[in-house]
Amino acid sequence: MRIKVDPARCQGHNRCLDLARDLFVDDDFGYVTEVGDGSVPADEVRRAELAVLNCPEAAIELIAD
Ligand code: F3S
Repeated sequence: MRIKVDPARCQGHNRCLDLARDLFVDDDFGYVTEVGDGSVPADEVRRAELAVLNCPEAAIELIAD
């Protein structure tokens, strides 16, 4: 699995960072992107799902490999 953040949708709510700190990185303005290629380790999948569900802008997609 991997995650992808849509930069056009992200408004910097940062709930994703609270839920899955290792999967996202923020810039100086609070907008996030996925870490690296967005790969989600097996033991982080549940956190990734929570991040998807809790983003108010629906900016995060969880994609099956
Ligand atoms: Fe952006 Fe959603 Fe995270 S708006 S900072 S992707 S919670």
